[in-house]
Amino acid sequence: MLQIDRLEVAYGALTVLRDISLTVNNGEIVTVIGANGAGKSTLLKSISGLLPPSGGTIQFDGKEIARTPPHQIVKLGVSQVPEGRQLFAELSVLDNLELGAFSRGGNAAENAKELAHVYDLFPILRERSVQMAGTLSGGEQQMLAIGRALMARPKLLLLDEPSLGLAPMVVRSIFEIIMQLKASDLAILLVEQNARAALSMADRAYVLETGRVVSQGLGKDLLADPQVQRSYLGESIAH
Ligand SMILES: Nc1ncnc2c1ncn2[C@@H]1O[C@H](COP(=O)(O)OP(=O)(O)O)[C@@H](O)[C@H]1O
Ligand SMILES: [Mg+2]
Repeated sequence: MLQIDRLEVAYGALTVLRDISLTVNNGEIVTVIGANGAGKSTLLKSISGLLPPSGGTIQFDGKEIARTPPHQIVKLGVSQVPEGRQLFAELSVLDNLELGAFSRGGNAAENAKELAHVYDLFPILRERSVQMAGTLSGGEQQMLAIGRALMARPKLLLLDEPSLGLAPMVVRSIFEIIMQLKASDLAILLVEQNARAALSMADRAYVLETGRVVSQGLGKDLLADPQVQRSYLGESIAH
């Protein structure tokens, strides 16, 4: 579904991703773990077209998208939930969700159906539909950010640090939702600093260190890998 080959991404003269090759297959959940500053957000932004790469290829469903503008990438079926949610704080929950649908286009009936689906997945959003997004709790805001991305009816969902800044109990419910989405056949590329949780959920995983893939394998194999344990599963990271 997603095939990245020898990707290189730079901010001006500063190259931050080098020689990244990564795949996500249909219905898979793949995670990218790595320390702060490793390049995880940069990777997701380049897939969603916000940051065109300086080298390498990105194919989605067999189509080269490395130079495709973001709104067209959404239409092809890739939605991103950005780090820090980036909601429209002064707009209602419903308005934020409708903006997610708008980015995809589509007709009113399809959008109504997707809205019902998102409200079934997150009943709290239905209750809060007229509330301003900025007044929601952190967990509710993350649900809204995921809901907004789902309104574009993606085949591949890019999730950037969905657990960031949330209380452990809320993190658990967000991760349960991610597993439900996987069960519904959506492919997911999950970026997390919470490596233990991410590796437990993932079919496969990549470890990113200063812009390079230094290790990859099955999620459960990396969980058991002593080097990964030392670097990423220490007390300071486990939530
Ligand atoms: N807009 C930017 N301009 C210049 N450098 C940036 C910019 N955004 C991120 N970087 C740098 O790129 C590297 C990777 O950042 P990022 O992808 O945000 O890492 P992560 O998401 O893994 O924490 C870091 O060294 C960061 O300082
Ligand atoms: Mg980041």
